[in-house]
Amino acid sequence: MTDLAALRDFLGCATPDAWLEVAPGRLDLLLVDHANCEKKAASAALSMLYRYEGRPRLVQTLSRLAREELRHFEQVERIIRARGIPWQSLSASRYAAGLRTLVRGPEPERLVDLLICGAFVEARSCERFAAVAPRLDPLLERFYLRLLASEARHFRVYLELAEEVAGTGEVAARVDRFRRVEAELILSPDPEFRFHSGVPAAPGPGADQGQVRRDTSRSSTSA
Ligand SMILES: [Fe+2]
Ligand SMILES: [Fe+2]
Repeated sequence: MTDLAALRDFLGCATPDAWLEVAPGRLDLLLVDHANCEKKAASAALSMLYRYEGRPRLVQTLSRLAREELRHFEQVERIIRARGIPWQSLSASRYAAGLRTLVRGPEPERLVDLLICGAFVEARSCERFAAVAPRLDPLLERFYLRLLASEARHFRVYLELAEEVAGTGEVAARVDRFRRVEAELILSPDPEFRFHSGVPAAPGPGADQGQVRRDTSRSSTSA
């Protein structure tokens, strides 16, 4: 069973209603960005697996996690195709880049921060799946409720790995720091609608939130 109460305690805020109200009408953006997030989640886990190859438990755990994220990507991609939603190249959300500004340079602090970053991304994904699912059609609702359990597990995995490196006290202090920044990213106006975006800002004249900016396959948000 997914412990949503624990997740909500971990996160500094809930997804704002304004985001939830926009999401069902922007499935084109939501699903394509979600697919990108799953790819990036796999990619982030793989890059840690390369960088920290001397840590067997981390390597085994993140290898499993990366496979799971790629399966999620395949599932979302199939839904996008089945619905005839055109694939578009979307700019990355500001979310992951905002979190990564907190990642310290030296090791092992860098590893601890990357793992905490992973925990926040997974926790927010899970919280958002739970919040948006009841507003979507039955197929997507079931799909998001299924994914929720995986992302909740991934949240725990990242946090446990961080605590193995730094101990619970130091991790708790860093989590507090990340929590404040994460909540600010979620609660402040955001000009682009994405899976991890903030409060949707009113678009300016001629603005197109789905506009093509650049290939996001190398950007860093993950699910
Ligand atoms: Fe995922
Ligand atoms: Fe995940």
